[in-house]
Amino acid sequence: MDKLVIHGKNPLSGTVDISGAKNAVLPMMTAALLTEGVTTIHKVPDLRDTRTMIRLLKIIGAGIEFIDGTIKIDSSTVNKLEAPYDLVKTMRASFYVMGPLLGRFGEVKVSLPGGCAWGPRPVDFHLMGMQKLGADVSLEQGYILAKGLKLKGTNICFDFPSVGATGNVVMAAVLAEGTTVIENAAREPDIVQLCEMLNMMGANITGLNTNTLTIEGVRELHSAEITVIPDRIETGTFLMAGAALGNITLNHAEPNHLQIVLDKLEECGARYKAEHEKIHIQKADEIKAVDITTEVYPGFPTDLQAQWIALMCAAKGQSIVTDTVYHDRFTHIPELNRLGAHISLHDNIATVAGDASLKGAQVMSTDIRASASLILGGLMAEGQTDVSRIYHIDRGYEKIEEKFRSIGADISRISE
Ligand code: EPZ
Repeated sequence: MDKLVIHGKNPLSGTVDISGAKNAVLPMMTAALLTEGVTTIHKVPDLRDTRTMIRLLKIIGAGIEFIDGTIKIDSSTVNKLEAPYDLVKTMRASFYVMGPLLGRFGEVKVSLPGGCAWGPRPVDFHLMGMQKLGADVSLEQGYILAKGLKLKGTNICFDFPSVGATGNVVMAAVLAEGTTVIENAAREPDIVQLCEMLNMMGANITGLNTNTLTIEGVRELHSAEITVIPDRIETGTFLMAGAALGNITLNHAEPNHLQIVLDKLEECGARYKAEHEKIHIQKADEIKAVDITTEVYPGFPTDLQAQWIALMCAAKGQSIVTDTVYHDRFTHIPELNRLGAHISLHDNIATVAGDASLKGAQVMSTDIRASASLILGGLMAEGQTDVSRIYHIDRGYEKIEEKFRSIGADISRISE
């Protein structure tokens, strides 16, 4: 397994290109299963997760070409309506094949995703949506079987605006008979782009950017060509590194997708300038302690909670970080405390003492975003930090050590 070796405290300066959004491209790739044509997606990040999705689409029988960030998916050869356990257990987003395969072929068999590093990740909202569209859903030996030769439009209201359930149910509904209204739908940019792509393919979805989506079922979809939006979580991660250590410019970023994060960074003393597809951030002279509470979009993203805690370790004074989306997503805290942070946790509320003079140590990644917070911690710490199990970070960040090295960080990947 690889590890990252970081020698901290280097000032950061220069320019980083932001990659395409992982959480947008994964459902977009499965949306290609809804048509016989060849779908083309540009600015696909080369990640463990996108390569896992490619493996899954190939198992399902699709033809795939992935060259220089452009993927072409030919779904005319799809011949296996199943997502196997050994893939789904490595990537929960494999569950996104359910909606398209059920919608186009009337049946699908998908392994129930297990939990993840920070706890159970249920899919009950996904299954409720499929059942309301008329599918028979059952569980057999850890696999969800869903059958429904002709799905019928219906009204669905989610208890929680689930990103995955919204994407999955929209993809099941686009070919259903009649109208589907989804209330309390997710409105993350990733889901907005998925709906935009489906409309480019001939679907009829209205209410984009709102919590109510209306889908008029159509008879069939055709192929499309689209470019993935910038990854707002990668953007936020680099912005926090800049607020702590530097004077950096992010190219191909979309400031409108993370305004709340920019506001919070300004509140903690960093200065930023946002223009078309570019954000420049200047470090805070002194990082002020700023509390955050994660919320669904457009609130502060849970996927930037761990990175914010790392930044707050260097803030003057105490800050409170509350995660309302996942109540147990804090496995990064004991690892940051190994760097000399003083963070305590009660339920889903972390208290960061701040004023920590972080010192390098060996730390262990536990999930994608926890890994990012440990890298930020290492960059801010005195001395050497070794971050192990970085297969987690490779799931969601493209060439992260190269990007950080290009702006002055002393970071390298070592094979253990
Ligand atoms: C997506 O996961 C993202 N993953 C996650 O990013 C992100 O943290 C999450 O949305 C929240 O923004 C992808 O897009 C691939 P949810 P998803 O359904 O769709 C509960 C990363 O680091 N819930 O919005 O699985 C759930 O337990 C990853 O890139 C149910 O109870 O998230 C959670 O508490 C990590 N039943 C809340 O809803 C369900 O059927 C939000 O989950 C579905 C969800």
